[in-house]
Amino acid sequence: LRHLLSTEGLRREQAEALLDTAASMEQALTGRAVRKLPTLRGRTVVTLFYENSTRTRVSFEVAGKWMSADTINVSASGSSVGKGESLRDTASTLAAAGADAIVVRHPASGAPHRIAGWLDRVGHSHTDGHVAVVNAGDGTHEHPTQALLDAATLRKRLGTDLTGRRVAVVGDVLHSRVARSNAHLLATLGAEVTLVAPPTLLPAGVDAWPVTVTHDLDAHLATGPDAVMMLRVQAERMHGGFFPSAREYAVRFGLNQRRADTLPDHAVVLHPGPAVRGMEIASSVADSDRAAIGEQVTAGVHVRMAVLYHLLAGEDVA
Ligand code: CP
Repeated sequence: LRHLLSTEGLRREQAEALLDTAASMEQALTGRAVRKLPTLRGRTVVTLFYENSTRTRVSFEVAGKWMSADTINVSASGSSVGKGESLRDTASTLAAAGADAIVVRHPASGAPHRIAGWLDRVGHSHTDGHVAVVNAGDGTHEHPTQALLDAATLRKRLGTDLTGRRVAVVGDVLHSRVARSNAHLLATLGAEVTLVAPPTLLPAGVDAWPVTVTHDLDAHLATGPDAVMMLRVQAERMHGGFFPSAREYAVRFGLNQRRADTLPDHAVVLHPGPAVRGMEIASSVADSDRAAIGEQVTAGVHVRMAVLYHLLAGEDVA
C-alpha cells in the first residue's frame, strides 16, 4: 500500500490486515501509563486540511504522536493557500520540507489522488522518493479511514467476521463520502449494505454500488438490521436548500427513539459525526448504550495508527 486514497479497490485481505493492525495497536497501548510507541520515530506526518474537521484531524495527530512521529497541522486558512498558492505547489512544498506522509482533506473529489500522482512523479530526496498520501475526505467522493473505523467498531460490537451482517446506511447519501467508502468497504468485508434515502438524496450511478436501495426506513428497520449508520446531512454541499425539508427529513429518515426501539437487541447505531441531533438522530438514541459514537472516535485513533504504520513503517499489507 503506497497511499490510502479510497476503499473502492481495497482487497479484503488488505482491509482485514489494516483492521487487525488497528486492534493490535489498541492492545499495545492498553494499560500503558505513557501512550507512546517508538514505531514512527523520525518520521513526519503533515495534515493538510482545506475543510473543517474535529475528529479526523485530531485523531490523525494523536495517532502520529502515539507512534512518536512528528506531526504538523496545516490549514488552508493561515497557510500560503490564502495567498493563492496552488494545491500542487502546496503539496510539493510540504514534501520538500520533509513530510513522509500528507493527510489531506479537500472539498474537491479526487484532490488526494492528484496529489499522490504529482508526488509519485516528482519524488523527494528526504523520503527515499516516496511521500504517502492519505485521503481524509475528498468532496462527496471518499473518506476511507472513516469507513475503516466504522468497520473496526462493528467488528468489536458484532464479531470480527462481518460476513452476512446487514448494515443500513441512512440519509443524505448524495453528498456523503462516508456512505460511498462504507458501501465499498463493508461489501468487501462480506456485509450486506442497504442504502435508505429519499430519491433526491441518492447519487447518479448508485446502481453500480455493491448495495441495495430503499426509500422506506420503517419498513427496512422491521427487517432487523445488525447495524444502522446514520449520515450527516451535508448542508454545506447543498446550494439553495434540499428536498425533503429538514422537518420532513426528520420525520421520514431521522432515527428517533420509537424507531430505535424496533431494532434487535444486538443492533448497533453508528454516526460519523458531527451529528445534527433532533434531525438525523434523537439525543436519547445518540446517548444510549446502543449507539457507538464515542467508540467510533476511539477506533479512529487506532485505525489511523494502523494506516500510518503500514504506509510508513515498511510493513506492507497483504
Ligand atoms: N467524521 C468526520 O470526518 O468528522 P470530522 O469532520 O470532525 O473530521
